[in-house]
Amino acid sequence: MRTVEWVDGRVRIIDQRALPWELVLVEYDDYLDVARAITDMVVRGAPAIGAAAAFGMALAARQFDANNRQELLRYLQEAQALLVKARPTAVNLKWAVNKVMKAGSSEALFRVEDIRNEMLRAAKRIANQDVKANRRMGVYGAALIKDGDTVLHHCNTGALATVDWGTALGVIRTAHQQGKRFHVLLDETRPRLQGARLSGWELTEAGIPFEIIADSAAGHFMRTGKVDLVLVGSDRTAANGDVANKIGTYSLAVLAKENGIPFYAVVPTSTIDMSLPSGEQIPIEERTPDEVRSPYGMALVPDEYPVRNPAFDVTPHRYVTGIVTENGIAYPPYEVNLPRAVEGSLAQELEEEDLPYTHEQLSLFDDLDA
Ligand code: MRU
Repeated sequence: MRTVEWVDGRVRIIDQRALPWELVLVEYDDYLDVARAITDMVVRGAPAIGAAAAFGMALAARQFDANNRQELLRYLQEAQALLVKARPTAVNLKWAVNKVMKAGSSEALFRVEDIRNEMLRAAKRIANQDVKANRRMGVYGAALIKDGDTVLHHCNTGALATVDWGTALGVIRTAHQQGKRFHVLLDETRPRLQGARLSGWELTEAGIPFEIIADSAAGHFMRTGKVDLVLVGSDRTAANGDVANKIGTYSLAVLAKENGIPFYAVVPTSTIDMSLPSGEQIPIEERTPDEVRSPYGMALVPDEYPVRNPAFDVTPHRYVTGIVTENGIAYPPYEVNLPRAVEGSLAQELEEEDLPYTHEQLSLFDDLDA
């Protein structure tokens, strides 16, 4: 089952707020409800919210009873503006919504019905390509994990954060599928605990051994030689390789460098924002203080205690050992190698060196484009 899917004219989403206790599915036929679901984190994770918003656009195209092309496109521009604002940091949201809007705005489409069909096709393509990108990143990234390793992971970057399979957790899944034996330390990821609740659930389902640690324990495990590799995802990566990701990622990266541990971000090219020269320009979402004061309704401190709650931070590229994309692993200098990853010219070069996979193995995932 996919995290986000189009089923019988509706968008079906796994409600991530209910996990790990219950697997609840919600269905929407109004794009405004999809926007709310993104803001309220019914669905979260950069690629998952991109796909949800793409289907939201497809819904918007259907729910408005337009008389002609102009009328429909005007309505869709409002939907586009609203969906893009649902969460500010993950660039996949803007990327996906704009892609679907562009598909529907083609001059070649005159009839309202043709615009609707084209937008739905574009949304489905985004969802399928996300799965394919994750499977490819899994193959590239799994080469970084050795038998006996302990991998430290932050937040949830798995099937739930994407359409299926996952980014950093997708690498972990692939390595497990390849028969490698290794251990995972999951940062619990305060304040919303995506690491403990969602990554814990996914690794349990997949039979991958793990232990949850308090975020503040990560440094202890790194300094005492218990961590061989740090893997994280990203919500937006700038052209220079600065990585915005779940709050706490920056501290992990600095600790990893101090302790000589490789730190990799696993980032589909849909998450790379080549329009931003550095991470300084990435908008950082600040969420409600209630998430810190009373996570999931459990009051930890009085309501009047002041709180700051940035949801993301930026890790400067000097702390990032490499960036795993669906087109190969980019290493510094990122100004040179990220554009090659985005264009797709990186993989061939890397494959000519000694990476343990071939074009043929990667083409196994081509059918997902259909
Ligand atoms: O606030 P969230 O849960 O949406 O944040 C998610 C993350 O930070 C993930 O690491 C990121 O989306 C990349 S994983 C696909």
